[in-house]
Amino acid sequence: MINTAIPCSEPWGMLPGSQPVRLFTLRNAQGMKVAISDLGATLVSWLAPDRAGRLGDVVLGHDTPAEYLASTAYMGAIVGRWANRIAGARFVLDGVEYTLDRNEGPNLLHGGNAGFHRALWDAEEDDGGLVMRLHSEEGEAGFPGNVDVTVRYSLDDEGELSIEYGARSDAPTPINLTNHAYFNLTGEPGTDIRGHVVSIESDRFFEVDAALIPCSESLVAGNAFDFRQSAPIGARLDWPHAQLTIAGGFDHCYVLPGTALEGRPVREVARAYDPTSGRELTVSTDQRGLQFYTGNFLDDEPGRNGSRYARHAGFCLEAGAFPNEINRLERDHLIVRPDKPYRQVTKYRLGVAANA
Ligand code: GLA
Repeated sequence: MINTAIPCSEPWGMLPGSQPVRLFTLRNAQGMKVAISDLGATLVSWLAPDRAGRLGDVVLGHDTPAEYLASTAYMGAIVGRWANRIAGARFVLDGVEYTLDRNEGPNLLHGGNAGFHRALWDAEEDDGGLVMRLHSEEGEAGFPGNVDVTVRYSLDDEGELSIEYGARSDAPTPINLTNHAYFNLTGEPGTDIRGHVVSIESDRFFEVDAALIPCSESLVAGNAFDFRQSAPIGARLDWPHAQLTIAGGFDHCYVLPGTALEGRPVREVARAYDPTSGRELTVSTDQRGLQFYTGNFLDDEPGRNGSRYARHAGFCLEAGAFPNEINRLERDHLIVRPDKPYRQVTKYRLGVAANA
């Protein structure tokens, strides 16, 4: 009998320089299997049952570490030090201006040139979960502070994958981490996510400029961005809206309910349901922002088992701070200091919908 509480690991190829990469597997009593690599602390695969009990992979992934290194899709990775964009690749902290990597036009995207998603993390089993650790040197991508990051993945028997983030720094620095999993609950490679029915508990989102930097807050009421009542992604993608044209689909941060900047409870904020398989995903987080991204940049991306991923082959629900929030007036809560570590908890739960 398999002890589902202990993650097992296997070799998963080599990085240039002969560094071995490993793949760890978490299992639960429902037969779910979640594979996570120490390359990028990446969620590589999540096998979950459909309404008939058949296992299917609900996240997009590549077959090899080399494909992860070559890709710009950030599939399933932990993204940092700063997830999403920082406008002008700069910010000012305690009177000092910091200049960051410009890896998307004049802006920083997802941690800059190196990024946590391409790093090899230390991994160890911890009380049934998997703990990944990464050291990020002062000056990485231009950020101050030597930072030690911890990400703990754990899977329970109800199908909930918890991701608990922590980071410490020896000097003040902004930190904003997220997981960049692309979900496609059909479990069928090569399909799109237009039929998924999504709800997001939010009445506001950030409109973006042509470089996808948030420029103003906008209400969702009466337009394509309103997911307070569940709606199929495809129908909404077809709804004329200048913001969908700019981004080629949804690539926008929703403002989650609650005014607290810190110490927020973990609460359910979004759901996605796939009518074909009956699978349902629930997202809970203590963060203020939720980036809804419909895989608009996917363009013949190498997928699992030789498949290819086209535009809208997957969607992401990335919990974190608001993009470019470090350049907003109210941003002290984003600064990690030696006596103030970074914390985040986000949970993805997979099941079969009650009426499926
Ligand atoms: C995020 C961004 C997108 C895109 C993807 C990665 O979700 O918001 O614009 O950069 O990552 O391709």
